Amino acid sequence: MVLSGKRILLIISGGIAAYKSLDLIRRLRERGAEVRPVMTRAAQEFVTPLAVGALSASHVYVDLFSREDEQDVGHIRLARDCDLILVAPATADLMAKMAHGLADDLASAVLLATNRPVLLAPAMNPQMWANPATRRNRATLEADGRHFIGPMAGEMAESGEAGIGRMAEPLEIVSAVITILDPAPKPLAGRTAIVTSGPTHEPIDPVRYIANRSSGRQGHAIAAALAKLGADVTLVSGPVTIPDPQGVTTVHVERAEEMRDAVVSRLPADIAVMVAAVADWRVASSADQKIKKQPGEAPPPLQLTENPDILKTVGHHEQRPKIVVGFAAETQNVEANGRAKLERKGADLIVANDVSPETGIMGGTRNSVRIISHQGVEAWPDLDKDEVATRLALLIADKLAEETAP
Ligand SMILES: Cc1cc2nc3c(=O)[nH]c(=O)nc-3n(C[C@H](O)[C@H](O)[C@H](O)COP(=O)(O)O)c2cc1C
Repeated sequence: MVLSGKRILLIISGGIAAYKSLDLIRRLRERGAEVRPVMTRAAQEFVTPLAVGALSASHVYVDLFSREDEQDVGHIRLARDCDLILVAPATADLMAKMAHGLADDLASAVLLATNRPVLLAPAMNPQMWANPATRRNRATLEADGRHFIGPMAGEMAESGEAGIGRMAEPLEIVSAVITILDPAPKPLAGRTAIVTSGPTHEPIDPVRYIANRSSGRQGHAIAAALAKLGADVTLVSGPVTIPDPQGVTTVHVERAEEMRDAVVSRLPADIAVMVAAVADWRVASSADQKIKKQPGEAPPPLQLTENPDILKTVGHHEQRPKIVVGFAAETQNVEANGRAKLERKGADLIVANDVSPETGIMGGTRNSVRIISHQGVEAWPDLDKDEVATRLALLIADKLAEETAP
């Protein structure tokens, strides 16, 4: 497991996002980390030490002046006896105290006494985050070498206000922890992956074609994220205007049939992520020469025929990859259609998203997806496509580790 043997001191301060720390503890421990929690007095207003202690299977440290705790580990050892200190959520208040070197409670004293890397996941009202004082404190902390993940854009849990201030999601925080502890973690080293991306162009004649609005951003980001985790990635891309991702072998194709051939010829692989928006139909017999407009004649009819189903081909192939992931771009009944697709296509995961024009997802930079597996459905918040890619790559790495566990 990627965090085996790593000791994380998790400081929970008093923000509404403290409830997410419970999931964060689970996610860290699932990856082998040992989590030792410290809670501020305010944090205990939001989640109980009982819940934090039960989930972390550890004593929860709350008091600087506890004789027992001081005799047991003591705040100086607490500050040093770990591989990383993670502050999640980090309140505006705790950031201010850190920036000014205050140490009037256990959390701030530990943060002042530590010589370990510190990662902060701030969470606060957008106005608090935008306040010049908080901005100064953040700059000071960054100059002091503290690491940050987030905050992210989105809706605030308590006020519904939108803006920057939402705490990064637990898996994003885990990914940042992994990167700090081991700048080159390679849970997918030695694994091969095939990713498809972009639209396909189905020719009508040599100059005209049928296409769709896919930009390739999501597929390219996934290829890059898998490569970052150490996979040997082949990206089969339809026609896009974005650059080839780094560290990935990119094969350029135009038509669905070419894409299918390029994918199948690269099997076997450990992972297949079929993100491309493959045209369902092509023109049955595209013209060799440009179809000329004839004065007075009716427009030529377009006879369509079905294209190969690449996801289904891969999902049922005799050299089926261990993990097959499909994308389901839907404009209605997103979840029901996604579930049906999981079964029909022989996939392990379907990433379902609503691409209705009003969502702006098709061709945009953000994505709001639901992950459908045989275990159930997980709705991810609205995220940048790079963040979706990072999370998905980690999820795939976890699934593959489970699949191949002895
Ligand atoms: C309902 C409620 C929600 C709060 N949410 C946040 C928050 O998300 N971020 C933040 O910085 N402060 C938030 N605060 C304010 C902090 O709890 C307050 O500044 C406290 O002193 C922080 O203490 P600590 O930094 O020692 O944990 C909230 C307060 C209340 C009453």
